[in-house]
Amino acid sequence: VRYLETQAASSRNSDGDEEYADNIDWNNLGFGLLPTDYMYVIKCGRDDEFKQGQLSRYGNIELSPSAGVLNYGQGLFEGTKAYRREDERLFLFRPQQNAIRMQIGAERMCMPSPSTQLFVDAVKQTVLANRRWIPPPGKGSLYVRPILFGSGPILGLAPASEYTFLVFASPVGNYFKEGTAPLNLYVEDEFHRSARGGAGGVKSITNYAPVLKSLSKARNRGFSDVLYLDSVNKRYIEEVSSCNVFILKGNVLSTPATNGTILKGITRNSIIEIAPDLGYQVEERPIPVEELLDADEVFCTGTAVGVAPAGSITYKGNRIEYKMSNQLVCLQLYSRLMGIQRGSIQDERGWIIEI
Ligand code: COI
Repeated sequence: VRYLETQAASSRNSDGDEEYADNIDWNNLGFGLLPTDYMYVIKCGRDDEFKQGQLSRYGNIELSPSAGVLNYGQGLFEGTKAYRREDERLFLFRPQQNAIRMQIGAERMCMPSPSTQLFVDAVKQTVLANRRWIPPPGKGSLYVRPILFGSGPILGLAPASEYTFLVFASPVGNYFKEGTAPLNLYVEDEFHRSARGGAGGVKSITNYAPVLKSLSKARNRGFSDVLYLDSVNKRYIEEVSSCNVFILKGNVLSTPATNGTILKGITRNSIIEIAPDLGYQVEERPIPVEELLDADEVFCTGTAVGVAPAGSITYKGNRIEYKMSNQLVCLQLYSRLMGIQRGSIQDERGWIIEI
């Protein structure tokens, strides 16, 4: 605690004003890594519990070449954001949900996991220690990346003998290079993101490298991201490489039902909860790709992405374009969500945690 007080104190100058990291263009933050000052690290054995971690200087870590994560992909990651409000108070959005999701993922990947309390405490410590990297209000947020992986050496296929839980952070602005402009999505009809019975429903690192091929190809052709279809029928929309997807028709908001192949995004779940406040009905169900044709809006949601409207979707060579305006329902939902996160709208659900 004394250590953290020193950190927090060192984020203020002699007048008591908040100090910010030097030479950062806070008006133009994208989603590139800006290494910050500290990270949180804790290790434990396969049959142990994570007990007491500590902060250390942000930097490279040492790993055995035979670490479980390097050889067999035994790893999970999370993403959550810390916000600075006008009065300099710091807030997190639903970090317990990330902890629970990591616990569910860890069970799937045969790893011990941090308790919710340890997870949230580690996130808070990381944010406080890197306080000077939290962007000024309205300029972005501090993206916090908790990772859990098999760090013990292994040769034959089996769970590793040792696990590391590590939390680092980076200031971020918009995820897509388009900024807040509408996204151009490409529907992939060759590769799939995940399959029934796989690990698509948890935030396993193994769900992300396999999409790089489709993503790179689509980006080279000018698309923002890729929308995947289910691997059984090749017909139902599932998820975008980096986020979940919703469609709006009339006053019905639909999103693919999670059946083990789709990540239960925290932004996704939050939009599902707040949409009825704005008079929208929500359905979680299988959504055939043809429904994109006459949707009023299609949009993406995620911690990194926020809420981002699709301006076009290209499927089998046909490009569908959506009407854009600043009255879009998805933007109204996003502004409600941001209002809760930034404190201008009452947080009736207890989603916000002050650090
Ligand atoms: C997030 O939204 O936090 C994610 O983990 C997605 C990632 C591809 C940036």
